[in-house]
Amino acid sequence: MAAADQIKTLIQSFGESDETRFFSTAMQIAATEARQGHATFAQELKVLIEKAKKERSSSTIDSKAISLSLPKRELHELIEVFVPRVKLNDLVLDEKIKATLAILIEEQQRWEELKKHSLDPTRKLLLIGPPGTGKTMTAQAIAGQLDIAVYIIRLDGLMSKYLGESISKLRLIFDTMQSHRAVYLFDEFDSIGSHRNQGHDIGEVKRVLNSFLINIEKDRSNSIIVAASNLPESLDMALFRRFDEIINYPLPDKLQIKQVIQKCTKAYSFIKRPNYETLAETALGMNYSDITKSCNEVIKSMVLSHAPKLDADLLADMLKKRKATDGK
Ligand SMILES: Nc1ncnc2c1ncn2[C@@H]1O[C@H](COP(=O)(O)OP(=O)(O)OP(=O)(O)O)[C@@H](O)[C@H]1O
Ligand SMILES: [Mg+2]
Repeated sequence: MAAADQIKTLIQSFGESDETRFFSTAMQIAATEARQGHATFAQELKVLIEKAKKERSSSTIDSKAISLSLPKRELHELIEVFVPRVKLNDLVLDEKIKATLAILIEEQQRWEELKKHSLDPTRKLLLIGPPGTGKTMTAQAIAGQLDIAVYIIRLDGLMSKYLGESISKLRLIFDTMQSHRAVYLFDEFDSIGSHRNQGHDIGEVKRVLNSFLINIEKDRSNSIIVAASNLPESLDMALFRRFDEIINYPLPDKLQIKQVIQKCTKAYSFIKRPNYETLAETALGMNYSDITKSCNEVIKSMVLSHAPKLDADLLADMLKKRKATDGK
């Protein structure tokens, strides 16, 4: 067994976020175990330590470092860059969407094998559906799953701040896709993908849309392009055939509501087992975002009032309240 002092140092260094001391103490424990003849356990510890080190180094790449690596300064105001921690398993999705995304991930992880046979991996997605159903989160989770950055393009900024220059900016974004493999999320896509555009110069919107169509058609990069919109009826028809997959995000059904509540509350226990059927009935018609927010509100009030467990009745009330105000 590891010495008491080693365990104390391990906990202390964790508390002080002293990563170097944490890992060196962990290695000392592995060495002690090996000396005591526990070779298998020592080896298991070493593997775990190496894995943890690798995971730490990939998750601590900070967004600033990556955003500085954007080739053009002109894009800094238009693109937000970070490496998401969220994974596809954090989302509740219907089986069909899960299967489509699983194929995309596998093709992306093994893109070199496909390229050798002149095959293109799936990488252009159009996500459509009501607000709060997981479109933005999906783009982030694809990046998180592949351990690459997500570049979120502020389309509204492209249209309003850079009137007259939007096409050249868009070209720069597509150039960046060549040099920086990442997930490029064109969120709120209706601001350029729609004919019925309010507030912007309609001629400019059309020119930007045409330029987008040309660029996405020509694009041969290794990046993943995701466009998301909650106004599918307003999207230009010409857009649809430019994407490899068009995925519809519906509101959650009863089973999915139960799953999302379980995901949000899994770190806490309830005073008495909740009746998920009733909760799902109450929340039917709400989106994932509002259900998640209701759960978080109940969790926060539990923590702040030092209550030991969650109250399912309180959660039901919270859901009703949020549903009545339509998430506002
Ligand atoms: N399918 C889902 N599974 C689990 N949680 C979800 C899901 N969809 C949404 N959420 C929760 O709601 C939040 C907001 O979701 P997200 O931003 O992905 O919605 P969206 O579909 O992009 O909405 P909008 O159309 O308004 O942009 C997420 O951060 C997450 O907490
Ligand atoms: Mg979104």
